[in-house]
Amino acid sequence: MSSDKIDQTESVHGGDVKALPMRSITMPVAIASTFRFDSTAALQAHLRGDAPQPDYARYSNPTVREAERRLARLAGAEDAVLMASGMAAVTTSLLTFLSAGQHMIFLSDVYRPSREFIGATLRRFGIQSSCVSPDDVSAIEDAMQDNTRVIFCEFPTNPHLRVADLRAISALKKKRRGVQLIVDATLASPLNARVLALGADIVIESATKFLSGHNDLVAGVVCGRSGRVEAVRELRSLLGPTLDAQTAYLLLRSLKTFALRMKAHNEHALAVAEALEAHPNVERVFYPGLASHPDHAVASDLMSGFGGVVSFHVRGDLDAASAVVDRVRLIQHGASLGGAESLIHQPAIFSYSDLTSEERAAQGIADNLIRVSVGLEEATDIVADLYQALEG
Ligand SMILES: Cc1ncc(COP(=O)(O)O)c(C=O)c1O
Repeated sequence: MSSDKIDQTESVHGGDVKALPMRSITMPVAIASTFRFDSTAALQAHLRGDAPQPDYARYSNPTVREAERRLARLAGAEDAVLMASGMAAVTTSLLTFLSAGQHMIFLSDVYRPSREFIGATLRRFGIQSSCVSPDDVSAIEDAMQDNTRVIFCEFPTNPHLRVADLRAISALKKKRRGVQLIVDATLASPLNARVLALGADIVIESATKFLSGHNDLVAGVVCGRSGRVEAVRELRSLLGPTLDAQTAYLLLRSLKTFALRMKAHNEHALAVAEALEAHPNVERVFYPGLASHPDHAVASDLMSGFGGVVSFHVRGDLDAASAVVDRVRLIQHGASLGGAESLIHQPAIFSYSDLTSEERAAQGIADNLIRVSVGLEEATDIVADLYQALEG
């Protein structure tokens, strides 16, 4: 069963009000590495799939399973599988649907570790890739080869918030048998885009971000049709990046406020983006909710909200941008996004600091780029903090 609408009722209950074990209002945390069988007949019924039960926690755990059920509903998916991180979700999904000798297309401006996994690790195992701009559907068509099996993109991308036309990509993909569209929709979150309904075969979220929302856990989820999710689950069981029950419980707890939080992130980020665009010390703002964003029309068509991440170029060089980062007081300097606490991040001195300025520019990362994860503090306080930092 999947939900058509995500609101606070869905967020709190995850479907009909449900009787949980031990008459508990909340899902109990099953802290066990292994589960017993009442008889050999029960084991055989479990193995046949007639009476499934948890057996070993690397394969399944009741608390994790309940979180998976809830996440599948949020994504409008038949099933979901949880992982120990968003990267585990990305890497395990790609490894599930690609083999040596095959080819994939990925859209540029993706999270750097995902790009490195595609460009270095998958290449090492004989999987070639082509990188295409997110706004160029005809270039995707041109990049298609007979052995192309996956198109991978972020929705929106991190850090420039590019929004690809998933409907057009999905239509293109349907002309080729056996090509999967895998979308990392971490920055949209399920509240802002029904990515599977737009034509994706698999949707991935780093649940570390908006789904959990408190900057206190690391998790990832893969959602889609049961058969595809089962294939990813089987590889997860072999590779081993299973989520533990306590983290799954924290995630379940967070989901109860997901719609409330996400709506606030959307509102606050739009206010921050508009305020930044009006500031003379800001050269350019990247936020799909702004009319100035190159993908504003596509985003307005495919998304119901534009998310909680805003990137911008400070007027000036690397040091001018670093000075802004050093001057914020409410916003904290750190990696990640999607939490209650606003965070600021300058890719050139953090996630891309091992590259030269020229190498970064070749990857589209300007020295004066700043990314803000707009949190749940009052929007006026976040704007005031950025303004005093920009004026410092
Ligand atoms: C778009 C995107 N995908 C995946 C990840 C990886 O998630 P995790 O840190 O949970 O492994 C991140 C992390 O920032 C991200 O921004």
